[in-house]
Amino acid sequence: MKVRTQFVCSSCGYDSPQWLGKCPNCGEWNTLKEITVSGSKQRQRQENKPSVASEPKRLSTVSETALQRIDTGIEEFDRVVGGGIVPGSATLLSGDPGIGKSTLLLTVLAAIGGVYVAGEESAEQVKLRASRLGISGDNITMVSETRLEDILRYIEDEAQQKSKPRIIIIDSIQTIASDAVEGGAGSVSQVRYCAERLVTYAKAYTVAILLIGHVTKEGAIAGPRLLEHMVDCVLYFEGERFASARILRTLKNRFGAVEEVGVFEMQDKGLKEVRNPSQLFLSDRVKGVPGSVVTVLLEGTRPMLVEIQALTVATQFPMPRRVVSGTDSNRVQLLTAIIQKRLSLLLGNVDIFVNVSGGIKVAEPAIDLAIVAAIISSFSNIALKPEMAIFGEVGLLGEVRTVSHTNRRVKEAQRLGFTIIATPENIHAIGELHRQFFTRK
Ligand code: TYD
Ligand code: MG
Repeated sequence: MKVRTQFVCSSCGYDSPQWLGKCPNCGEWNTLKEITVSGSKQRQRQENKPSVASEPKRLSTVSETALQRIDTGIEEFDRVVGGGIVPGSATLLSGDPGIGKSTLLLTVLAAIGGVYVAGEESAEQVKLRASRLGISGDNITMVSETRLEDILRYIEDEAQQKSKPRIIIIDSIQTIASDAVEGGAGSVSQVRYCAERLVTYAKAYTVAILLIGHVTKEGAIAGPRLLEHMVDCVLYFEGERFASARILRTLKNRFGAVEEVGVFEMQDKGLKEVRNPSQLFLSDRVKGVPGSVVTVLLEGTRPMLVEIQALTVATQFPMPRRVVSGTDSNRVQLLTAIIQKRLSLLLGNVDIFVNVSGGIKVAEPAIDLAIVAAIISSFSNIALKPEMAIFGEVGLLGEVRTVSHTNRRVKEAQRLGFTIIATPENIHAIGELHRQFFTRK
C-alpha cells in the first residue's frame, strides 16, 4: 500500500505537504503535526463514499419534508440549534472536560430516542449517569465501540431497518479510530478522518449525528477546531466548573442564527433548563455592599441580569495589580485609565479586582458602565441602592455610548424589580454617574 506523509495543523486543520514552523492559515506556532495517510487521495475518496448513490435533480423537485426538524422538547437546546435538530445534519458539541457535554446529549437523546456510541465510558458507566438523571433508556441503544469501521457498519445496518435511528451521538470523537489511518485515537489524522466519514454517512442516511469533542490546547490530541468546517453546526458548552450555571452557545449554524444561547443549571439530578437566567445569576447577591453593581447583558436576543463585583485595596507592590475574571482584562485596564483621567480618582496605588458573578463570561461592551460604577463604588466605599441596574458602553473620553436593544434591557431589569436604571439615555458621561450616585451629599 502506498503511504503518503502530510502535515496537518492541530489547531485549524490546515494541510501542508511539508513541515512549517508557523501555520500560514491560523498563524499558530508549532502546531503542524506529521500524519501518514495510506493509499492515494482518490482511493480514500472512494472509500469515503457510502453505498447510497444520489442522482442529480432539479432544486425545485427536491423535497423538504424529509427535513422536518426533530423537536427534542428541551426548549433551551432546540432554540440554540435553530428550532430542533435537522435530520442528517452533523453537529459538534465542544467544551472543557467535565462541563456536562455527555450529560446534555444523554438528556437530549432520552427525549427523542436514538443511538449512543460510548467510547469514553463503559455502557455501565453511562447507565449509572442515566439512572441519576432519571432516564430509563428504553429508547436508547448503547454501542460500546471505538473502531470506526464497526460504527459505520452499524449505522449502515440500522439505516436499512424500518425504525432507523434519527440521531446518533458519538461520545467522543477523540476516542474513535480507524484502521485506515495511522496513529492512535485522538491524533489529528484519526480525528479528521473519522469525523469526515461519520459526517458523510450521516448525510447519506439522513441520520443526524452529534459529535462530542473536548477542547484541548494544541498537542498530540486534535482540538475541535479541526472539525469546525466539516460540520453544519458547532455548539459550545461553557461555564465554571465549580459554579452551576452552564451556557450553550452556537459558534456556527448552517440552519439558524448563531447568536442564540441556552441556559442550564447543573444540579445533582442532571441539567435543568433555566427559563429565567437573571434570577439564577442574581441569587447569591448581597445587597447594599460597595463594589456590587447589577448590569443587563444581551445574550443573543435574551437580556440577562448579572452582578459585577469590584474590589479595590491599597497595593503592596510597585505595580498595582488588575485581576479580572469573567470578562476581558484589557478592557478593565482601559476603563480604569478612563476613570483615573476623567474623574481624577487616584487608582494608581490600588489593586483592582473585577469579577462577573455566576461563572458567566461577558464580552459585551455594554457592561462597561457597570464595571466603572463597581470600581468607583468600591474605591469610594459607597454602595448603590439595591434596586439599581446599570448598563452602557464607555468611550475613551468618558462618554457613555448607546448599546443595542436598550428597551429590551430596561424591561428585563424592571421585570425583576429594578426601579433605578442608568442607561446611555439618562447618563451621558461617567462624570455624571459619579456626581449622581457616588458623591456624599
Ligand atoms: P459530564 O457530562 O460527564 O461532562 P463531560 O462529558 O463534559 O466531560 O459531567 C460531569 C460533571 O457533571 C461531573 O463533575 C458531575 C456533574 N454532574 C452533576 O453535577 N449532576 C449530574 O446529574 C450529573 C450527571 C453530572
Ligand atoms: Mg463526557
